[in-house]
Amino acid sequence: VREITLGLLGCGSVGTAFLQLLERRRQVFDDMGVRIRVTGVLVRDAARPRDVPAGTPLTESPDFLNECSVVVEVMGGTSRPLELLRPYLRSGRPVITANKALLAECWDELRPYALAGQLYYEASVMAGTPVIGPMSTVLRASTFQRLQAVVNGTCNFILTCMEEGHTYAAALAEAQALGYAEDPPTLDVGGFDSAHKLAVLARFCVGGDFAYDQIAVQGIEALTPELVRAAAQRGERYKLVAELRREDGGWHASVSPQALPADHALCTAGASRNAMVYEGEECGPLFFAGGGAGGMVTASAMVGDLLDWLIGFPGHVPLHGLEG
Ligand code: NDP
Ligand code: HSE
Repeated sequence: VREITLGLLGCGSVGTAFLQLLERRRQVFDDMGVRIRVTGVLVRDAARPRDVPAGTPLTESPDFLNECSVVVEVMGGTSRPLELLRPYLRSGRPVITANKALLAECWDELRPYALAGQLYYEASVMAGTPVIGPMSTVLRASTFQRLQAVVNGTCNFILTCMEEGHTYAAALAEAQALGYAEDPPTLDVGGFDSAHKLAVLARFCVGGDFAYDQIAVQGIEALTPELVRAAAQRGERYKLVAELRREDGGWHASVSPQALPADHALCTAGASRNAMVYEGEECGPLFFAGGGAGGMVTASAMVGDLLDWLIGFPGHVPLHGLEG
């Protein structure tokens, strides 16, 4: 039996679900001749009770990182996780992360590791709905034309609740209780989380060095229940849309609220579900939809990434240059 030592950074909505799913999939690892030993789980408060398997080594010290053969990062933020992962990545070991803020904003430093296949990040965009996998493999062969997506579950949930007559504040509180929202939720409602995800996607579509600050960002804060319901009466639905398209000979990337016809593909996915229309010249229009937020749906992609690494697949390699 091959023993794998795994370190987990963070044990909130996603980290807790990740540990639960590792337990649930024990037979799969046994069948592969692998035993996963969790050597440390970094949190801010190790004394707080959590719904994790008995014996989980919760700790406030990251010392266990020195000993791990793989690290799973679900703590959020940018500078702290980067500081923790830097020596670890330099040693050539793999990281599985759901942290799109880190990927989007610290790309200058992370990109060489992604090119080396050390970074696995299927969960960072659309959680358990696979889009990074196809974009980093088969879709490379097609000439990218345009992408339009709803990639923030919290905003989607809030807008749907407002259509149903709930207030913005009540809807946001419920999205937080469901484990969808970022800390702080301004990342969601301000459009920044969608922009983080669009930056991650753009690096597979138009250029491996696509910068996060190239994206024009507008959130949903100015939308009122009245505006949302008036749109519904016109047969339209407000969505926070992330878009990447050709404009004036270059690529234009934006996040903005848009009132779309109710039968538009991006409107049909459901309250907290994400959706993406991807257009490539040779592959034609493709549609992806599914769960995009929540602990377990995110953990499913991360355990999938872990299995990929164990099988020997490289991480998600972006485009090598600026293609567009
Ligand atoms: P939570 O806020 O629920 O959990 C964060 C965890 O990290 C907590 O356990 C917290 O410890 C720990 N943590 C945070 N900062 C520190 C620190 N400085 N030192 C030690 N521990 C720290 O976040 P989520 O689980 O919701 O999200 C985690 C990541 O996954 C984020 O990057 C998020 O963007 C991403 N993600 C989340 C999704 C979701 O639906 N929730 C979906 C896809 C991606 P403590 O518990 O003690 O406070
Ligand atoms: N806060 C994010 C969302 C979590 O609501 O979509 C998933 O990335």
